[in-house]
Amino acid sequence: MLFVLVLLFFANGTALALDNGRGHTPAMGWNAWNTFGCSVSEKLIKDIARTMVSSGLRDAGYKYLVLDDCWMGGRDEHGNLIANRTRFPSGMKALGAFIHSKGLLFGIYESPNTVTCAVIWSGYPAKLGTGSADHNQQDAKTFASWGVDYLKYDHCRGDYDSFARMRDALRAAGRPILYSINPEFGQVARSRELPFLANSARVGDDIFPKWQAVTRLIDEGSAYAMLSKPGYFNDLDMLEVGNGMSQAEDRAHFAMWAVLASPLLAGNDIRSMSPQTKAILENRELIAVDQDPLGVQATLADEPSSTTQIWSRPLAGKRTYAIVLLNRGDRAVTIDVPWNWHVGFQGPARVRDLWTHKDLGVFDTGYSAVVQPHDAAAIKVTVVTGRRAHAAATAPHRLVRAPKTLHPAVPPA
Ligand code: GLA
Repeated sequence: MLFVLVLLFFANGTALALDNGRGHTPAMGWNAWNTFGCSVSEKLIKDIARTMVSSGLRDAGYKYLVLDDCWMGGRDEHGNLIANRTRFPSGMKALGAFIHSKGLLFGIYESPNTVTCAVIWSGYPAKLGTGSADHNQQDAKTFASWGVDYLKYDHCRGDYDSFARMRDALRAAGRPILYSINPEFGQVARSRELPFLANSARVGDDIFPKWQAVTRLIDEGSAYAMLSKPGYFNDLDMLEVGNGMSQAEDRAHFAMWAVLASPLLAGNDIRSMSPQTKAILENRELIAVDQDPLGVQATLADEPSSTTQIWSRPLAGKRTYAIVLLNRGDRAVTIDVPWNWHVGFQGPARVRDLWTHKDLGVFDTGYSAVVQPHDAAAIKVTVVTGRRAHAAATAPHRLVRAPKTLHPAVPPA
């Protein structure tokens, strides 16, 4: 009997990660903060909602429209959260209904402290930017009544256990709300608890649109790869695609976020994005890697040189892998990927280019690509079995070195 109970406990998933009906794959959507900071308004959010539909982003999978900090206007006489009336004259319930009418989901921001992070860091008035401290249950009910589908709960300073309190308050409020937390800036204490606390947790310090921030977050995020699973994903922070980095850097950023199974929250002004930015954000094959139902985060398979890395993750489906060849350096280089246990399999294997969307053929012993500076090649590989595999088994295989340790994080300039 005990054996059956233990089996049921593990089989329904509750033992492995928070099960609140949301976040079985990494969240996808748009967040206001990276481009607009505190300059948010009802008009902006409605424009963005319309553009998420007209640009094709919604249909590519970007469903959550997340209003970040600075939407609040304090509390009413009953202690209920209210929106900033000047910026959001129709209120949050009406905004939620508008977002839903576009086939999108509504995300909102709060903090477990007495004030939000924008009060602490960005000068938002303290009497407006009220946090959820001592109001967890009341605020969770308010969010549910507004039709909120996603909560970003952002620490800055305060009490780590407050994340569990809001998780329980959301559950009690009775609406499935994806719970995305930011436990601490770059110092994730008690990391093994994260999958039980939330659907995603920020595991690095804030992103900004520079290559050193992208590589720093790859290093920070990769330390927690073993936690990733359906229901919980490591959040490498919102995307900076289209926010001023080179196209190569945007490509590498996006491919890495996808292979590392991070939430994909666009952070650019999508109303004026270039066709190149749109093509990166709407790369359906890389989105499929990010959203793969196995939910496994890529790990570093090898570092062929001090500036090149090979990241590999298994995908659902027989003997299928996604591999990203990352060039962190300043010169174009050829990156060789021999098929071996470092990348997870032996060849021969069929290769598909996830940027050009072309099948490249069957490669017996490995794959090799010239990768531009600050760029990444991305491939999907399916191991070939049967007669072809037997023929290739006699071909000479190259040896590779054992993986080295990760680069130290590069500090911002
Ligand atoms: C913190 C978070 C950011 C953003 C701001 C808002 O810095 O890490 O993503 O939410 O707060 O104040």
